[in-house]
Amino acid sequence: MLNPEVSKLLNEQVNKEFYSAYLYMDMANYYADQSLNGFEHWFIVQMQEERDHALLFRQYLLNNGEQVVLTQIAGPESGYKNFKEPLTKALEHEQFVTASINTIYEAAYKNKDFRTMQFLDWFIKEQGEEEKNADDNIKRYDLFAGDPKGLYMLDNEFKARVYTAPSLVLD
Ligand code: FEO
Repeated sequence: MLNPEVSKLLNEQVNKEFYSAYLYMDMANYYADQSLNGFEHWFIVQMQEERDHALLFRQYLLNNGEQVVLTQIAGPESGYKNFKEPLTKALEHEQFVTASINTIYEAAYKNKDFRTMQFLDWFIKEQGEEEKNADDNIKRYDLFAGDPKGLYMLDNEFKARVYTAPSLVLD
């Protein structure tokens, strides 16, 4: 069993990770609609990663004898002004998720829940990568997507992203 405060936050994180998957699918849908299939693909891979994160939180709760309580997932705010907007919204969202993981970490620390702190270590590192990727996408867009040819090439580059399962495995 876990401390109730920690357990509640971990449960909320399951929802947040599924929301992240939902948000990135919405972004993928936007790019599909704009025929930017590389951008679409990049966000579909991102969606898969978020689903994996949700499942890791689920498994951790179950492994510690906690109930997993699924709650309603909010619909993302749809509609983007331009090709860059999802990229900046993605970075903002990752910063929000980082803050959320940090909040759980703080609660675990306060409650001397060293096991949860160790579990969260993977996510602390992962969030660093997530923010960097999102930031890189914005920088690349600014550098290369200023004309149709550059946009086409960036789209092709995004097409090459390969999904890999998370390095953290919970049985
Ligand atoms: Fe689940 Fe993008 O962090």
